[in-house]
Amino acid sequence: MARRKKIYEGKAKILYEGPEPGTLVQYFKDDATAFNAEKKATVDGKGVLNNRLSEFFMTGLNMIGVPTHFIRRINMREQLIRSVEIIPLEVIVRNVAAGSMAKRLGLEEGTQLPRPIIEFSYKDDALGDPLVPEEYIIAFGWASQQDMDDIVALALRVNDYLSGVMYGVGIRLVDFKIEIGRVYEGDFMRLIVADEISPDSCRLWDIATGQKLDKDVFRRDLGSLTDAYTEVARRLGVMPANT
Ligand code: C5P
Repeated sequence: MARRKKIYEGKAKILYEGPEPGTLVQYFKDDATAFNAEKKATVDGKGVLNNRLSEFFMTGLNMIGVPTHFIRRINMREQLIRSVEIIPLEVIVRNVAAGSMAKRLGLEEGTQLPRPIIEFSYKDDALGDPLVPEEYIIAFGWASQQDMDDIVALALRVNDYLSGVMYGVGIRLVDFKIEIGRVYEGDFMRLIVADEISPDSCRLWDIATGQKLDKDVFRRDLGSLTDAYTEVARRLGVMPANT
């Protein structure tokens, strides 16, 4: 058996060199972290669920013309993705006040926002991913003004798609985080959705009961994270893979 070349290991995923140029293999670990990795645990089956759920969301986005890095799922824990040049930003879209926004502004969690609000954090673990205004992003050259316009358009399309899909299964999309990467195609550069879309990176509340079905279950010790993610997968008809 040949050893694969590890390109990068993060808190929840590992990237390996892919079978063809321009591809990578994304492996989903069972590790859960919160508060910039101050809280850590292994959650059996989380990687399998997130691999499947990210496949589901990214496939849907690809189908409606929102480009993503997802090519195909390989097995229970791995998917083939396009290699991208990641923009060092966490792009957060909020429909309802929760988490850090509720805390920062003294808003009650669950307050409906008048419109979707997009915010950006600079991806830097050592700094704790600080919130940054667009002016910093342009000034420091992390993205151009044109990139920012395209990122906002992409983020709002992802929000519309995810909100609708989740509403269809009785779940309120409170907020989520995406990451964006650049791909180069001949003379053109394109921005595409990268990383993952899963209950690790979204807030999902049951519409009927308000029950949390996302990583806040782990952050706030509200019960079984696997049960919460399995419920999301079950409602979406995304069953854990056995291949
Ligand atoms: O903590 P905060 O309220 O800023 O998080 C907003 C959204 O972004 C949540 O859905 C959270 O899960 C996600 N997020 C993430 N990765 C981070 C920070 C936030 O997926 N590093």
